[in-house]
Amino acid sequence: MNTYLIAPSLLSANFAKLGEEAEKVLTAGADMLHLDVMDNHYVPNLTVGPLVCEALRKHGIKAPIDVHLMTRPVDRLIVDFANAGATYITFHPEASDHVDRSLALIRKHGCKAGLALNPATTLQCLEYVWDKLDLVLIMSVNPGFGGQAFIPSALDKIQQLRQMITAYKRDIRLAVDGGVKAENIAQIAQAGADTFIAGSAIFHHADYRAIITLMRQQLAEIG
Ligand code: DX5
Ligand code: ZN
Repeated sequence: MNTYLIAPSLLSANFAKLGEEAEKVLTAGADMLHLDVMDNHYVPNLTVGPLVCEALRKHGIKAPIDVHLMTRPVDRLIVDFANAGATYITFHPEASDHVDRSLALIRKHGCKAGLALNPATTLQCLEYVWDKLDLVLIMSVNPGFGGQAFIPSALDKIQQLRQMITAYKRDIRLAVDGGVKAENIAQIAQAGADTFIAGSAIFHHADYRAIITLMRQQLAEIG
């Protein structure tokens, strides 16, 4: 099992001070930044493009940046975000006509590749692409907005996915995105997740260090 990673989602940060927010949350103990890219087409919201990822790098952010593409199509943006300094690029299988090709494209451009599965998307779409995956992201809300409640059926899916990753002996991160909080992080980890994306729980807290430390304490307690 991989070490636990906490990845604050910048979606809930103060966008007028994005560089500062990114630095602040990393100094407070975050492992990775999660950047939600929404296109008002695949999801009903519009956020940021590769310029913002590049701006974070130019600002001096060295930590891994996990780009979550909620866009359709994906291939052009994969190249643009790779050039903008992304570390992981994750997309939704429904958003690419050629999932295998899009995954290969991510690695070809030097990034780690991920698939994000919506609440109603089954694990079957992973079956023939295990060798092209570095991360699978289980959406525990419907994509598009921060601050939604965790959908409990995600826990079963996480358990099943953990069994598959173990059975296939793959080095693949199991990330969870949506409604992750200090109150449920231990339960989510117990189901088998190792990467925790949290937006509102961290950025709407007055003390980033306190909330990230509390999350780590919750994780430490389950061993
Ligand atoms: C939702 C995004 C999430 C979002 C999570 O579409 O993919 O990354 O920021 O926000 P919280 O943690 O507030 O549910
Ligand atoms: Zn996300």
